[in-house]
Amino acid sequence: MKKVYIETYGCQMNVADTEVVFSLLGKEGYVRTEDMAEADVILANTCSVRDNAEQRIHGRIEQFQYWRRKRPGVLVGILGCMAERMGESLLETGKVDIVAGPDAYRSLPHLLAAASQGHPQIDVLLSREETYGDIAPVRVDTNGVSAFISIMRGCNNVCSYCVVPYTRGAERSRDAHSIVREACDCAQRGYKEITLLGQNVDSYRWEELDFAGLLALVAESVPALRIRFSTSNPQDISDAVLETMASHANICRHIHLPVQSGSDRMLEKMRRRYTREGYLERVAKIRALMPDCAITTDVIAGFCSETEEDHRDTLTLFEEVGFDAAFMFQYSERPGTLAARKYPDDVPPEVKTRRLEEIIALQNRLSLESNRRDLGKTFRVLVEGPSKRNPAELCGRTGQNKMCVWPDTVHKAGDLVDVVVKDCTQATLLCELFPIFVG
Ligand code: SAH
Ligand code: SF4
Ligand code: F3S
Repeated sequence: MKKVYIETYGCQMNVADTEVVFSLLGKEGYVRTEDMAEADVILANTCSVRDNAEQRIHGRIEQFQYWRRKRPGVLVGILGCMAERMGESLLETGKVDIVAGPDAYRSLPHLLAAASQGHPQIDVLLSREETYGDIAPVRVDTNGVSAFISIMRGCNNVCSYCVVPYTRGAERSRDAHSIVREACDCAQRGYKEITLLGQNVDSYRWEELDFAGLLALVAESVPALRIRFSTSNPQDISDAVLETMASHANICRHIHLPVQSGSDRMLEKMRRRYTREGYLERVAKIRALMPDCAITTDVIAGFCSETEEDHRDTLTLFEEVGFDAAFMFQYSERPGTLAARKYPDDVPPEVKTRRLEEIIALQNRLSLESNRRDLGKTFRVLVEGPSKRNPAELCGRTGQNKMCVWPDTVHKAGDLVDVVVKDCTQATLLCELFPIFVG
């Protein structure tokens, strides 16, 4: 039996895809290993979203050469977005045996068989139909508590900075029956939480069903599970989705709503189809319907021609919204994107870095303030396992996706427990078990 080792980079969609790849290869008799040293096939499922993500993979490819030399016959393959973006040029390095894009995983067994005869193989065809809807993923997470379910692939937006539409192709939604079946299967296997995944979940459409409809269907099919979803686009998240969340207790009170910039001029140049005011309106609507809903975001510092004033608009927007958490990046020009073709990458690196640091410093304060607002409150948390720092403590997340730790030697991963927030850091709520009085 051949052993396959996969490293996964990038977003949650890649994690879900790796699980599909394990399933597809499993059917052909490959078994999974977590030890590269014993692998017959070494795969990296890669990300192209920023240059540093790709640089890391180039470094890994160098390291994989050690095993190719040491154990002749070992095959090295590049999957995912970087495979799609770089294609042939990866093969030309002579350092990889297989290049397979995100829609080509069904051909992996064939590619591996041909490559093992000494002929490097490539398949980077994008598809308009492929959703891997019929493939039951082999879950690779270790805690057995939380699972990803991919509901759509690709992206039809053309945000000018973004490489994803080029690496993942056109948007397509997965058959709702197969999504519900997978959710029910997760429940049966003991999972307690599922996350519905897509680059733009709000544009889900399958026959008459939109995302609000799908969300309700899934929430009602697996009432004992917690439901999360990601990512929502501010221009598409509908009142119907918010109302569905508000009316289903098992849908977590958390929306990841990437804003990218607080400046209308930047938003237009980024080809985001909302304004600062439109974004703030969505935030107000979320809070009106669900006052306890966490809102998190993504932001890019130093996009083409960004001025100090544009940057200040981002800072004031962060302040106004008071995000609970954020992923913060410096702009990285991606070859082939609209921005790379049309706009010079003209904000000097040190200015990008300084602006990013200012956003991070502000968000650190906002995260701490958000956590302080939770002091004294009680939350139901899903136990993930022992806390990393202290084995006598457990950790788990609130519906708002905040990490909690508390002393506990009774419960275990997968339990739902009530905790009271006693203290906090910027990253964690420090809690105690909700006291239960007997007698
Ligand atoms: N589909 C999601 C985003 C996917 S990419 C959405 O529309 O929100 C994840 C994040 O990476 C983006 O939200 C953005 O903040 C960041 N990102 C994308 N392209 C980037 C680039 N060229 N440089 C820096 N950050 C980028
Ligand atoms: Fe990229 Fe925009 Fe699509 Fe998100 S919505 S994946 S940022 S093009
Ligand atoms: Fe990266 Fe591809 Fe995801 S570029 S962020 S792995 S869709």
